[in-house]
Amino acid sequence: MTPIIAPSLLAADFANLERDVKMLNESAADWLHIDIMDGVFVPNISFGLPVCQAIQRHATKPLDVHLMITQPEHYLEAFQKVGASVISVHYEACPHLHSTLQKIKALGCKAGVAINPHTPVQVLEDVIQEIEVVCMMSVNPGFGGQKFIAQTFEKIRKLRQLITAKQAPTLIEIDGGVNSENAPELLRQGADILVAGSFIFRSEDPMATIQTLKQLETTQRA
Ligand code: DX5
Ligand code: ZN
Repeated sequence: MTPIIAPSLLAADFANLERDVKMLNESAADWLHIDIMDGVFVPNISFGLPVCQAIQRHATKPLDVHLMITQPEHYLEAFQKVGASVISVHYEACPHLHSTLQKIKALGCKAGVAINPHTPVQVLEDVIQEIEVVCMMSVNPGFGGQKFIAQTFEKIRKLRQLITAKQAPTLIEIDGGVNSENAPELLRQGADILVAGSFIFRSEDPMATIQTLKQLETTQRA
């Protein structure tokens, strides 16, 4: 199987978003990864609902919304209305994670949970059946263009074991510092979805770079 490729628009040219979204429409990308930062949960502010809505007007592929915000439960419906197909909330920002996941599903979206690099995958054990996507951060959230944290490989392996043991429907998404060097190993350890920002948008030919990632093989699973 091929991986799901989700280019992160955080690395796009914000003055030419329509052009970049149309490029992604034409490319081998599967989802568009949208990073929402509030300057509180993470030390950076990206963009919010109106920009997401503008992206939706041009996008022909599902929007994968990664909420790096406090109290994300207050904004689920708003993001669903501006086109989110997947909504990931941070484990570290959700004291009532189980309930928040039910709310995302009730809106007809795929329910995702993002975890910071220091958060062990074991904390998801009792809620894994409810999680459709785990967005595993392989950098500290807040900025694009950071160096990949190698400890992620082992975390993927552990999460894959947990998903298999619980027969959960969860996909594993890797977010941060993904490139063609670490991607084969990420997939070997059990990743299903690759997010990439700078690696794609800073490359000479973004469409060809997406194709390179898309051509990789995921690990066969029973
Ligand atoms: C980081 C974001 C990532 C980021 C990835 O806070 O969640 O999605 O855009 O960018 P790269 O691929 O440049 O690390
Ligand atoms: Zn992200």
